[in-house]
Amino acid sequence: GNIMAVIPAAGIGSRMGSGIKKQYLMLGNMPILARTIRAMEDNPEIQGIVLVVGPGEEAYCRDYILAGKAFSKVMAVVPGGDHRQSSVYNGLSFLPGETQLVLIHDGARPLVQPGEISRVIEAAREVGAAALAVPLKDTVKVVDCRGWVQSTPPRESLWAVQTPQVFRYGIIMEAHRKAREAGLLATDDCALVEFLGGPVKLVAGSYENIKITTPEDLVLAEAFLSRRRG
Ligand code: CTP
Ligand code: MG
Repeated sequence: GNIMAVIPAAGIGSRMGSGIKKQYLMLGNMPILARTIRAMEDNPEIQGIVLVVGPGEEAYCRDYILAGKAFSKVMAVVPGGDHRQSSVYNGLSFLPGETQLVLIHDGARPLVQPGEISRVIEAAREVGAAALAVPLKDTVKVVDCRGWVQSTPPRESLWAVQTPQVFRYGIIMEAHRKAREAGLLATDDCALVEFLGGPVKLVAGSYENIKITTPEDLVLAEAFLSRRRG
């Protein structure tokens, strides 16, 4: 069927703290965001891509990220919102009604690999909502705002969720609309489907599919890239 990708890339990168927004920083020979788009372009199941960027950055993005890269699937560059959730919603709203599956993938996750993308798509086809994730390596503490430990959830039950997250189009649109009505803000899209009460399946991914968030992540990402080059 008909699979579309939405790439939210409208964040300001406050935790990176770089002069240029993190999605436009170079990783190897390409800006991070261009590398992310390339990963979506190269998947034969994905038919179209909607790129969501900071309001006013559309032209910059066309000239700097898209120009000369021979991307053939980018259908639109649309402005994002104040939160990741509203940026994704803007992207989703642009998709044609006949869309069957939507793949949502962070612009700041350039290292996702082809097999991982296919496996989440497969799971979403069956379940309706699926995401890549990895088991947590660290033990997690629940703390109050002053740093006092409240509890320690068992590590075996904790997974770090990544993107891509893939959904039947009807499910994710309903989830976003209901979340907006309820004033619910979440940092990933699966949480909105969970709020609806719908099933969500996790698919084991790779520890290399990091979200570039702080300066250390750039060092890691460069190391993963050079290891891949052999
Ligand atoms: N994102 C977005 N619109 C927003 C906020 C985030 O499209 N209003 C995107 C980011 O560009 C990124 C992804 O969502 O590709 C994951 O968000 P995150 O890693 O938090 O990026 P930023 O919000 O840019 O970084 P920070 O939270 O450190 O400011
Ligand atoms: Mg953020």
